Amino acid sequence: MNLPTNLFLALALFTSSSLQCHSWAGHYYQDPSSPAFPFPFPYVGGNGSVQNLDTMAPAAQCSRAERVASLLLSKHSLELVSYREIQSLWAGYGSISAITARATTDAAAEQMDNLLGRRSDRTYPLVLKLIAPPPPSSSAKVVQDEGHLRKMLSYGVEQYFYTRIAPELADDVPVAKIVATAQADDVTGLEVDEKAELKGVTATVMADLRSEFPVPGGRRESLNQTQVSSALGWLARFHGSSWEWLPTELDEFLSPPLQEAKIRSEQGEDKGGRSIWLNGGYTYLATRRKEYQSLVEDKSSEWSDALCKPVKGSCESIAEIVAAFLTPSGRPFETYIHGDVKSDNLFTTRSGDRVAFVDFQYVGLGLGVSDLAKLFTCSVPQDLLVSEDDGSLPEELAMESGERKLLEEYLNTLHEFADMADIDYPWDLFVRHWETALVDWCRFQASWGFWGNTEWLEARVRSILKDEGWREWLLAQRDTGEI
Ligand SMILES: *[C@@H]1O[C@H](CO)[C@@H](O)[C@H](O)[C@H]1NC(C)=O
Ligand SMILES: *[C@@H]1O[C@H](CO)[C@@H](O)[C@H](O)[C@H]1NC(C)=O
Repeated sequence: MNLPTNLFLALALFTSSSLQCHSWAGHYYQDPSSPAFPFPFPYVGGNGSVQNLDTMAPAAQCSRAERVASLLLSKHSLELVSYREIQSLWAGYGSISAITARATTDAAAEQMDNLLGRRSDRTYPLVLKLIAPPPPSSSAKVVQDEGHLRKMLSYGVEQYFYTRIAPELADDVPVAKIVATAQADDVTGLEVDEKAELKGVTATVMADLRSEFPVPGGRRESLNQTQVSSALGWLARFHGSSWEWLPTELDEFLSPPLQEAKIRSEQGEDKGGRSIWLNGGYTYLATRRKEYQSLVEDKSSEWSDALCKPVKGSCESIAEIVAAFLTPSGRPFETYIHGDVKSDNLFTTRSGDRVAFVDFQYVGLGLGVSDLAKLFTCSVPQDLLVSEDDGSLPEELAMESGERKLLEEYLNTLHEFADMADIDYPWDLFVRHWETALVDWCRFQASWGFWGNTEWLEARVRSILKDEGWREWLLAQRDTGEI
């Protein structure tokens, strides 16, 4: 009976995302007569023989991600040995999979050993990040949605980071090494129809960091002192080393999502930003106007007045002046920032002495302190920041010694790079920037929802807003054209 067999195959196909595909450095062709069927057939073997999918063992019937992985690997004389999806991405727009690849030639093995900095038995643990959004027809209604635009643009930003910026980073700023991408210039050796299969797909195959950094940072506030120090070191070196390559022109960077989409739709897809975000992160005010407006109207929140009321003699609020100050414009203390710094986005060695960050979708220009504001609020245990250990904090809180120690640690490392780049970044100025970044982070959380060290953040920001010295400094920045 055909039916039970087919049913079995279909079930195997749809339920078993952890199927292992054994060494079929396969070539696939889409059957034009059945566009609706998500799996291509017939299968064309490496020896040129044609086989229909439904006559093949279920293990060989692989998802789109596996097919993409094997296409990208084949270009580098690597064959797919195993595949397992480990995470599906926002709104089902793609997936992250753990794959194993084997080098099929000595040259490929040597190249991989060099890339990964170790010798191996020709087998490599890798990760595939695949972005394959639904076709335009079904996503047309959300095209103007800011969250959707932000996400879609961010995938291109991340790929730019891994292909162009990551290879420039020193060994003490570890990130995953890239093996292959679906970008046009990386798939030149593939057949025409294979390239057609990769059209519209953003895919990156990279080394699996977990062999060197096996401990996931995990959820909120779970980092210990060693891990926090390592994270601060990584950030200082990442921020600092960007001074060496920052371009003088800002027009290659991506504008805020709505503006970037407008440029591309009015002037053409090849116009607009080509590299990373002009403003790193995804919480800055220019991309959170809707949330900000709700905060303006939310009279039950103390932060509505405190942050959103126009400053005396001005039509702008503190939140707006702060945001304007933090907007990159080519000032010497600006660097690349990660943009989404939290424990979830890092892995550490077993001893916690080194970390590697992942998730570079929101990398862009900014002030390093903006990365720190999120890290301190969301991933640093509160007892590393404050001395009170009875659990309750005062309404207003100045900088305590724990917080100062962590900031000094970061700035000491940053200074090594500032000295090389001949940039003067004294502690007092750095602290003003830090305070400003905390106010901005508080604005975002107040409009979006608080999480992490909420009490600490609010107490710190109440104290900063009351500090006449800080206010005068901020307004002077605006009045002297620094903003
Ligand atoms: C070609 O490869 C297919 C699939 O791997 C296999 O079934 C078939 O026997 C091979 N044909 C020849 C002529 O080697
Ligand atoms: C922090 O965590 C790491 C990794 O789990 C561990 O090896 C290290 O000893 C811890 N350090 C401290 C100070 O607790």
